[in-house]
Amino acid sequence: MALDVKVELIESALREYMKIEKVPSLLKEAMDYALFPGGKRFRPLLVLSACEAVRGDLRQALPVACAIELIHNYSLVHDDLPCMDNDDYRRGKPSSHKRFGCAIALLAGDALLTYAFELLGRAFEGDVLRRLLLEIACAAGPSGMVGGQVLDITEGSIEEIHVKKTMALIRASVRCGGIAGRASLNELQVLTEYGERLGLAFQIVDDILDFGKEERLTYPSVYGMERAREDANRLIEEALLFASMFKERGEDLKELALMVLRRIEEA
Ligand code: IPE
Ligand code: IPE
Ligand code: MG
Ligand code: MG
Repeated sequence: MALDVKVELIESALREYMKIEKVPSLLKEAMDYALFPGGKRFRPLLVLSACEAVRGDLRQALPVACAIELIHNYSLVHDDLPCMDNDDYRRGKPSSHKRFGCAIALLAGDALLTYAFELLGRAFEGDVLRRLLLEIACAAGPSGMVGGQVLDITEGSIEEIHVKKTMALIRASVRCGGIAGRASLNELQVLTEYGERLGLAFQIVDDILDFGKEERLTYPSVYGMERAREDANRLIEEALLFASMFKERGEDLKELALMVLRRIEEA
């Protein structure tokens, strides 16, 4: 399935899942504001493309793709708060706290995170549910993204920050696509190797694009711009090799990896 068709599938599923009842209207508005219009939808695209690579049923992977996108969007709402990065804009519009105030932005983030797990609980059962829950909770929680956010504002090394803050959720996206698609152990291992390279390259590229704009530790500020570009290129080349193990079913995983590098050229 072409990537743009996958995006349409993700957008309409997100709209559908956001028809939640009995939610205070201001909270609902703030949750929608954080989710729509979205960004690249990179993580849910990875979920669906990984599912496709292992010959899974994409519709079965859709709820976990959306759950991960909700968690990603919560993380951005909290990341922009004045007590965090204090960013006034996100995706070309005022950040959530600028629009709704800190309290509602904070709570909308909490709601997106919690609702992601409700959605998983409703959509899956048995061992697949248990594995997806563990995968996502570990990637997003204290030893994953939240831990990485703490290291980012305290004393972490750039490598550890990247692994936890960004790579963990990207790797989990790929693995969850595999799990929902009933991947074999061997396929899951290849997806993991791909996801790790891609996740690291993704944050190095994000750092390259942010270079000079932010005071925090970034890959080019530690290693220089030349090495940052070299490392991103090498990691993407490695990711492409792993994706090619799925033959033509790995085409979209390849395309998503190339998209990461293209962001530098387009900037
Ligand atoms: C931005 O993620 C935050 C990082 C982890 C680098 P994305 O670049 O995926 O953000 P959107 O969802 O496309 O806006
Ligand atoms: C955000 O990281 C990553 C999260 C885990 C939320 P950054 O602070 O580097 O990303 P941007 O530049 O605000 O998107
Ligand atoms: Mg940050
Ligand atoms: Mg930020």
